[in-house]
Amino acid sequence: MTFLIQQTLLYAVPLMIVALAGVFAERSGIINLALEGIMIFGAFIGVLFVRNMQSVQAIANAYANKQWLTLQGLELLAMLVAACGGSNAEAISTDNGGKIMQSENKTNSSKALVVYYSRSGNTEALARMIGNETGADMFRVTTVTPYPEVYRETTELARAERDNNARPAINGRVENMADYDVVYIGVPNWWSTMPMPMFTFLEQYDLSGKTIVPFVTHGGGGVANCVSDLKKAVPGATVLDALVVSGGSAQNAQSDVSAWLKRLGLVK
Ligand SMILES: Cc1cc2nc3c(=O)[nH]c(=O)nc-3n(C[C@H](O)[C@H](O)[C@H](O)COP(=O)(O)O)c2cc1C
Repeated sequence: MTFLIQQTLLYAVPLMIVALAGVFAERSGIINLALEGIMIFGAFIGVLFVRNMQSVQAIANAYANKQWLTLQGLELLAMLVAACGGSNAEAISTDNGGKIMQSENKTNSSKALVVYYSRSGNTEALARMIGNETGADMFRVTTVTPYPEVYRETTELARAERDNNARPAINGRVENMADYDVVYIGVPNWWSTMPMPMFTFLEQYDLSGKTIVPFVTHGGGGVANCVSDLKKAVPGATVLDALVVSGGSAQNAQSDVSAWLKRLGLVK
């Protein structure tokens, strides 16, 4: 709710002031209609600019630290576009995670579970596609203490967690893990590895003998160490080929998801 109020104050109030000033100036003949339009557009761009400064700063830091090898300018563009329509760079809050969402769409005799961590929705988009296509149950990993809403604060905390090999506490657990033969594991690339809460999750279970199917989204750095670190965390399991998708393409990756599932023999 506070977030909603913040957004309203941030966007609506400055725009309304400029629009009212514009209408007043136009009515008094000081400016014409075109100029008024330019004033409102300029105010909108100004708000967007301030709104994204922290994200821009985070990317600059990432570059300076040489952590993201091939971070694309496109990610910045995606953030700006997302800021216009609901902000992809913000933390998602679709549900609190930590519980099994059972599928009603069983398409396969072996029982499958999709486990994923997603902050801003890219990895979740793939998870949903996989769930819909395979009929797998779903489990979203969430932390007991949520990551900060501000992007840069999250990147800093995440880097410290990685450097300290931390295991942040997570919500809920999969009580019936023994029932699943196939476990899909979805993560965003965070500082070249999986978010540390996924390590917390994996270490709670014995996944030996199961088939693990990784999928990864990233901001330009590719899969990096995500899958090799995952393999170390699931000794005795068979790890299949990962699906790796750039975060900006995740919402449109349905055909890639279908082709990958078919190639691995996980759907007909
Ligand atoms: C804390 C943090 C660290 C990140 N580190 C990297 C990185 O090292 N390399 C990279 O390519 N992208 C990095 N990214 C970008 C994410 O991998 C990318 O935006 C991903 O698609 C986000 O997935 P999500 O929407 O499911 O959270 C990072 C993002 C965050 C929030």
